[in-house]
Amino acid sequence: MQYKTESILVNPEFIDKDVMKKAGNLIASGELVAFPTETVYGLGGNAMDDEASSKIYRAKGRPSDNPLIVHIADLSDLDKVACEVPERAILLANAFWPGPLTMILNKNADIPMTTTGGMDTVAIRMPNHPVALSLIRESGCVIAAPSANSSGRPSPTCAQHVAEDLNGRIPMILDGGSVNIGLESTIVDLTEKVPMILRPGYITSEMLSAVLKEKICIDPGLQTGITDQKVKPKAPGMKYRHYAPKAEMIIVDGEQKNVIDEINQRISADHIKGKKVIVIAAEESGVQYKADHVLCIGKRKDEDSIARHLYGNLRKCDQLGADVIYSESFSTPVIGQAIMNRLLKAAGHQVIKV
Ligand code: TXA
Ligand code: MG
Repeated sequence: MQYKTESILVNPEFIDKDVMKKAGNLIASGELVAFPTETVYGLGGNAMDDEASSKIYRAKGRPSDNPLIVHIADLSDLDKVACEVPERAILLANAFWPGPLTMILNKNADIPMTTTGGMDTVAIRMPNHPVALSLIRESGCVIAAPSANSSGRPSPTCAQHVAEDLNGRIPMILDGGSVNIGLESTIVDLTEKVPMILRPGYITSEMLSAVLKEKICIDPGLQTGITDQKVKPKAPGMKYRHYAPKAEMIIVDGEQKNVIDEINQRISADHIKGKKVIVIAAEESGVQYKADHVLCIGKRKDEDSIARHLYGNLRKCDQLGADVIYSESFSTPVIGQAIMNRLLKAAGHQVIKV
């Protein structure tokens, strides 16, 4: 179905109730609305309506075995989505919700299998964004929402990114400005004996461990490259090559001076072959590169700024028509694991150590 997509500005600090009513009614009637969260923009539909979930997969071009996250606005909604709520989930919800944490629990029978991609478990999150919370409440639904990009593209961190991918495919985009975090939520699986991180994010294993007072493990499938099929990630979405720009991308990792020398040598060789080269660098070192374009993604001293600008810059590489992209490595102290998880996937795990 072809839509004339309407993009509506919503000021998160002064939410227009009429707009939210209109958006909520669309969700309640089985339609889709893209909306901001604190992590990335989501593409929402009624999670209890398998037709609405099917529309989400179709609009994104997403494989139907890749389950959606169900977004709730109130703790009391947990029982509508999960069939049992373990003590750990309550502890984590009290500590981190609303916020960038998704929990995997055993699903309630009311949640259709289309929403969970055929799984018996369900991913649940309470987003920390006034527009997202208002949309959930106005719709009277729990809202299934993957990131609002077309499948394979970097997640959207502003409404313009959503429009680039989904214009004509959905009726409405709520434009609440740029997101705050810029990387998708941490996913923790609470259905096994030991809680397991299936996707790293802003909430780290140390933070989870401090609340639960137990060890948290990390899905061994996250360590492997896309060509290494031996250990599959447990979150179906983590097995796909995505977050990726179209050009070949290589991460160069090591001492700052060695990284700059290596990248500049490669740029000279690429230029002889007539290739257009883009470098993704921190603000501190950006001026050192002789590339066609240098994209400064943030300050090393302010790791949140790097996370916030990562996806936008990956999209910019496509717009600028790069043939080759070199990126510095950003193993920053807290959110570095999440940044590198996305960057490694974008680069198809191509890393040069210097
Ligand atoms: O920050 C976020 O989480 C954003 C915003 C919109 O909330 N949403 C998001 O959704 O990133 P999506 O669909 O792009 O990523 C959901 C991930 C996928 O990797 C999917 O495979 C995994 O969650 N997932 C969902 N349900 C699961 C389940 N029952 N078991 C394991 N993994 C699950
Ligand atoms: Mg996604």
